[in-house]
Amino acid sequence: MYKKAQTIQPWLTEVHQALHRIPELGRDLPETTAYVAERLDEMSVPHCPCAGGLVAELAGEPGAPVVALRADMDALPVEEATGLPQASCHAGKMHACGHDAHMACALGALRLLRGEGERAATLRVLFQPAEETDGGAAKMIEAGVLDGVSSALCLHVAPSLAVGQIGVISGPARGASDMFNVTLRGRGCHGAYPHLGADVVAGGAQIISALQLLVSRETSPLDPAVLTVGTFAAGTARNIIPDSARFEGIVRTLDPATRARTTARVRELVEGVAAALRLSAEVEFIEGYPALINDAEVAAAVRRVGARELGAENVITPPCPQLGVDDFACIAERVPGCYVDLGARRPGGVEEPLHSPRFYPDEGCLPVGAALIAAWAQSLM
Ligand code: NI
Repeated sequence: MYKKAQTIQPWLTEVHQALHRIPELGRDLPETTAYVAERLDEMSVPHCPCAGGLVAELAGEPGAPVVALRADMDALPVEEATGLPQASCHAGKMHACGHDAHMACALGALRLLRGEGERAATLRVLFQPAEETDGGAAKMIEAGVLDGVSSALCLHVAPSLAVGQIGVISGPARGASDMFNVTLRGRGCHGAYPHLGADVVAGGAQIISALQLLVSRETSPLDPAVLTVGTFAAGTARNIIPDSARFEGIVRTLDPATRARTTARVRELVEGVAAALRLSAEVEFIEGYPALINDAEVAAAVRRVGARELGAENVITPPCPQLGVDDFACIAERVPGCYVDLGARRPGGVEEPLHSPRFYPDEGCLPVGAALIAAWAQSLM
């Protein structure tokens, strides 16, 4: 299948570059959706709008299992700096996470299977909005896209792997994410007479330092967790102690028990240290994506297909899970699923990470992804 996919490389590249030029954010994807719908129409693949995205389905043999492929559609609020002729036409927006490549691979797989006389499972492609924002997968699941689905796959470009390689991990693959906002209230006063007030800036600094102890002193060094405070806002002038301050952070974990304990301890610790410093604290938690757990059987099937298509030496086992997150986790919670890293490193030069304004995948990854998806759908017969 990989050989066959390489023959449609020019078409895959054209699709990828067309999508790369029109990045859109969140659920606001009119041009992207229209482009994908046109390509589906050209191939006579039935599709319908769903929860801000699109669902396309290529029927397999009668009685064949139905499998799902998630292809995320949204871009990032990043100003592109690749300098490429196919760079973003939308100011301040860029496909810096490769979701344009994911859509191209999905369309490529449909094209390969459509032309294939062989037997394959029914392939339902979930063109999903809002992966980078508030979780488009959950809304599509609510709309019933996983009904009747026996297993699910998702590819994500990986600049750490070479083109022709895939990374497949069995079990936990990506972290769970939670967000918190803290508002501190003290008593504002003159900076030269701090004893007349209660200082939210000095107190806030103590609280943020103490939060780091939740990972370094309360979580096993062998249990991955990270806590980052990314914003702190307070005050109007150097000689005024303000009345209030606000900071925002994230917690990333793998183990559900660690997740529950850490989120509970953030609240206790913030409130406790604040009280000790004569401040009051309001802690708000926003639950993010669950941890992404790859199903062992689906992962093994993908490894078998990958080894056949690409050679066993090109099926890499990543050394450990990562604390980046992906809302494919919501899909993999419902049906056995597997998240696959798709090698996309450009030869030579500096390796640009995902979300960088200079990120661009090597387009040689497109036939690899398309072939892997198509061969997987066939392998399930
Ligand atoms: Ni992404």
